[in-house]
Amino acid sequence: MDDPNTAQVFEARYLRDVLGNFPTGVVAVTTMVTDDEPAGMVVGSFTSVSLDPPLVSFLVDRSSTTLPKILDADRFCANALASDQEWLCRQMSKRGTDRFTGVTWQQSEYRNPILDGVVAWVDCTIEKTVELGDHFLVVGRIQDLTVASVKRPLLFFRGGYGDYTSTAQLLLDSHLGR
Ligand SMILES: Cc1cc2nc3c(=O)[nH]c(=O)nc-3n(C[C@H](O)[C@H](O)[C@H](O)COP(=O)(O)O)c2cc1C
Repeated sequence: MDDPNTAQVFEARYLRDVLGNFPTGVVAVTTMVTDDEPAGMVVGSFTSVSLDPPLVSFLVDRSSTTLPKILDADRFCANALASDQEWLCRQMSKRGTDRFTGVTWQQSEYRNPILDGVVAWVDCTIEKTVELGDHFLVVGRIQDLTVASVKRPLLFFRGGYGDYTSTAQLLLDSHLGR
């Protein structure tokens, strides 16, 4: 057996290929740079952390140019993208483009951008950041949250986008002859 104290080395491509088999939701993390300049990025690493206290988190590559904006603002909103928002995901994850072109949004009580048409959002202040390998774990304390629509979520799996299908809904549809 390998010495457990010796770190294994994996090719980045292999890590991505295997870890891409774990499906994720797609979340636009947004904040404000100035009073009228929004910023945002897409993460697949958003997750709930704790109910008491109410905490959520996401992981950001240390090379991210959006991370310092989020940390400066000390707050963010996590917007769960809907299955009809693949275009928004592509735009919000692309560098060198105005990520908010054609995007309509409202400001939350904590002045974070809440994007129109998302499934749900969670408005946070930053509780803590932890350096982990080549990423930072950003932990947010929930200040407000809501389900914004009954739309289905956008999913990411094996490098591609997909829609969520509920077996219960399929069963209901077949029962009703839809
Ligand atoms: C579906 C999807 C999930 C992503 N998840 C993450 C993530 O969890 N963490 C991260 O740092 N980047 C993630 N990215 C990449 C970032 O969205 C993007 O590369 C980054 O925003 C680059 O620009 P920046 O300099 O503004 O950070 C993801 C991209 C996509 C399309």
